[in-house]
Amino acid sequence: MKVIITKNHAESCQKTAAIMADIINNQTKPVLGLATGGTAEQVYAELVQLHQSKKLSFKNTATVNLDEYVGLAPDHDQSYRYFMNFHLFNKVDIDLKNTYVPLGNTDPITELKAFQEKLASTPRHFQLLGVGPNGHIAFNEPSATLHADAHIVNIADATIEANARYFASKNDVPKTAFTQGMGDILKAECLALLATGANKADAMKKMLLSDEVTTEYPCTFLKTHPNCIIFIDQALADLIGYKG
Ligand code: F6R
Repeated sequence: MKVIITKNHAESCQKTAAIMADIINNQTKPVLGLATGGTAEQVYAELVQLHQSKKLSFKNTATVNLDEYVGLAPDHDQSYRYFMNFHLFNKVDIDLKNTYVPLGNTDPITELKAFQEKLASTPRHFQLLGVGPNGHIAFNEPSATLHADAHIVNIADATIEANARYFASKNDVPKTAFTQGMGDILKAECLALLATGANKADAMKKMLLSDEVTTEYPCTFLKTHPNCIIFIDQALADLIGYKG
């Protein structure tokens, strides 16, 4: 695991977008694993900017997302499909047929099987990651055991709490989600996790101030990946006392 302290989140996003652009430009058929959430928004804004300045084309790129709420239609403004279309796909020249986000409003068991098959047949060159305040990665929530494969998960109360800001009320946050398993995530050739904000302090302490790997903080499993980059901004590094 390589840790890079950046001066702020904007710099973390620029550096991450540069890695992704490099993969897109150098692979014949680049495949990117994508994430949603506040952390990822600015990474996508950087990629859109590179596209608009004619430095980047997504014509040959395929993508697979980490997760999706069960029950939300793709045009629901809190679905992860909607997020991806809004922040990235509709602003670049990607073929939507080459983008995969599990479909939230169909038979969950059939969709889960399709998601598992997609992951098995689509090795990823790169995976973008944020981290939950409780250390979750995608929707792999702290628990006595984690799953290697894609599955349907009961979203932890802490995560429902954290995501309620995007919904009219906490009660409107879906209770279950499709998620890549930890094994799926660790199969990507290169991982980049971005961390910013005081609410990520607890998770980042477990990541950076100890060598422990524990299912209580799913993010700690990233320590076992040979090509994982953690971008942490200076303010958060200072807050947890991480010096590099
Ligand atoms: C979303 C995802 C989540 C987020 C995490 C952090 O696809 O996988 O694990 O990365 O909840 O969310 P933000 O970035 O909103 O703090």
